[in-house]
Amino acid sequence: MEVVIVTGPAAGGSLVGEAIESFLRQRPDAVLGLATGSSPRSVYQDIVARHRAGRMSFAKARAFQLDEYVGLPADHLETYRAVIEREVTSQLDFARDAVRGPNGTSPDLPAACATYEREIAAAGGVDLQLLGIGSDGHIGFNEPVSSLASRTRLKTLTEQTRRDNARFFGDVLEAVPRHVLTQGIGTILEARHLILLAWGAGKATAVARCVEGPLTAMVPASALQLHPHATIIVDEAAAGALTLGEYYRATWEAKPDWQGL
Ligand code: F6R
Repeated sequence: MEVVIVTGPAAGGSLVGEAIESFLRQRPDAVLGLATGSSPRSVYQDIVARHRAGRMSFAKARAFQLDEYVGLPADHLETYRAVIEREVTSQLDFARDAVRGPNGTSPDLPAACATYEREIAAAGGVDLQLLGIGSDGHIGFNEPVSSLASRTRLKTLTEQTRRDNARFFGDVLEAVPRHVLTQGIGTILEARHLILLAWGAGKATAVARCVEGPLTAMVPASALQLHPHATIIVDEAAAGALTLGEYYRATWEAKPDWQGL
C-alpha cells in the first residue's frame, strides 16, 4: 500500500489525472471504476480539463460505477447514474452505453447484481478503480461487517452513512435511501489498481484504520491491505491520525519518477 500525502484535493486530482492520462495513452480501451460522492470530484474536474485541452480521449474506454441507490425514481437527480453523468461522463467523450452501473430500479435486484458482475467480467475487469472512504470505513457501500469476499449485492446503509449523505438530499435524513446495490469487496479487490482519496479531518480515523489498523470486516477499507497495488491519497487533515506519516512522506519524496502512481 502506498500513502501519498498531498496539499489538498486539487493536487490529488492532478496527480490522479496525470496517472489516468498516461494509462489511457498506453491503453485507450482502459476500463475505469468510478466512485461517486465528494472525494473523487477533483479527479473528475482534472480529467475533464485534460480532455478539453485535447490531452485525453475516452472514446474507446469503458467505465463502471461502484454503487447505486435503490428506491429512488429513475429520473431522480441523486441516483448515482445521474450524478456520474452530470459531473463526469457528459463532459467526456465516452461512447454510448460505455458507462455502466448496477440497476437500482430493477424488479429483480439479485438478478441485476449478477448481470452487473457479468458485465464487469466481460469487459475484462476494471483497470483503475477510484474509491472514497466512508467515515465508518466503508468502501463502495460495503458497510462494516461486509464479507471481505462479497460480490455485487443489496446492502442496507448504516444510520451514520445516511446522515453523512443527507447533504445530497437537502439535509433531510428521511430522503436518503436505506438500500443500495454495491460492488462487493471481493469485486473491488479484483480491479488492477485501486486509488482511494480522502480529504479532511472527518476521514482521519477511517484512513488510519484502513492503512494501519488490523484487517477486519469492521473496517471494510482495511481489505485494501490485501491488494498488491493500492494507492491512498490524502490531505494533511485526513492523514492526521496516521502513525507512520513521516515514513510515507519520505518514501514519496524518494520515489523514482519512472514508477508513477
Ligand atoms: C460512492 C461510494 C462511497 C463514498 C464514501 C465517501 O460511490 O462508494 O463509498 O466514496 O461514502 O463519500 P464522500 O466522498 O462523499 O465523502
